[in-house]
Amino acid sequence: MTDPGTDEAHQRRFDAMITAEERIEPRDWMPDAYRRTLIRQIAQHAHSEIIGMQPEGNWITRAPSLRRKAVLIAKVQDEAGHGLYLYSAAETLGVGRDELLDLLHQGRQRYSSIFNYPTVTWADVGAIGWLVDGAAITNQVPLCRCSYGPYARAMVRICKEESFHQRQGFDILYTLARGTDAQRRMAQESVDRWYWPSLMMFGPPDSESTHSEQSMAWNIKRFSNDELRQRFVDMIVPQAEALGLTLPDPALKWSAERGHYDFGTPDWDEFMQVLKGNGPCNRQRLEHRRTAHEEGAWVREAARAHAAKSRARQRAAA
Ligand SMILES: [Fe+2]
Ligand SMILES: [Fe+2]
Repeated sequence: MTDPGTDEAHQRRFDAMITAEERIEPRDWMPDAYRRTLIRQIAQHAHSEIIGMQPEGNWITRAPSLRRKAVLIAKVQDEAGHGLYLYSAAETLGVGRDELLDLLHQGRQRYSSIFNYPTVTWADVGAIGWLVDGAAITNQVPLCRCSYGPYARAMVRICKEESFHQRQGFDILYTLARGTDAQRRMAQESVDRWYWPSLMMFGPPDSESTHSEQSMAWNIKRFSNDELRQRFVDMIVPQAEALGLTLPDPALKWSAERGHYDFGTPDWDEFMQVLKGNGPCNRQRLEHRRTAHEEGAWVREAARAHAAKSRARQRAAA
């Protein structure tokens, strides 16, 4: 808090900034609920980036060519970088990344449910890039205009990298779809498995979304879950046609009246089950994360020791 005044005066100033579409910065007063909402959302986003490294990391050693391997390594490293930007953005709200990681490891904060599905074929790396990164971009482009400055700025850079990710996924599927019959079948089978979970990435239908309204009022969320899901479907239908692959949705149909594609309803029971921890890979993902964290303890200790030595040296020189 930089300026004196009552909470009421602060609240009025905050509301005026939101109405004027101004950015809230870490130095500004903000309501506790706004801060808590952002910490929850940014942390969940950061966790998703680093957990999301696992399903694709699984294919680095088995990528079909040196070029594909190099691209995939770069992509997985980008996701680690996204996690780091986002943990830094969360830290500007007064929470430590160690605390956030503890909450993730204890299962008290979430990450995107999509990463609890397994990657069983190479085509899954393509389907993740095309559909999962594609859904992520659809969600994240509007966040570049969100009211909290550090989050909005992190999203600008992240979105540039996500569009490369989507492109590389599309390229993998495009190659497979034009390959042998077996490769084509593998690509189609993978799209069949990832289509519905990618629609679920936008969250429950608007009628059941608990956080949406307040987040919209705070200019954190700009479009509703259903609006974003529609935007995503409208984007991928022509892309699927270009790939020569079919989206496994019998209800998919252009509606001239709405100017959008109609589409089917995801299995929300499955979504709730995965959210509750009963997806195919929930346990495996968290266990792997905890192990990676424990095995990295020496790196954190070394970094702390190095920082303490540098400080001592600086003090001695002063
Ligand atoms: Fe990412
Ligand atoms: Fe990505």
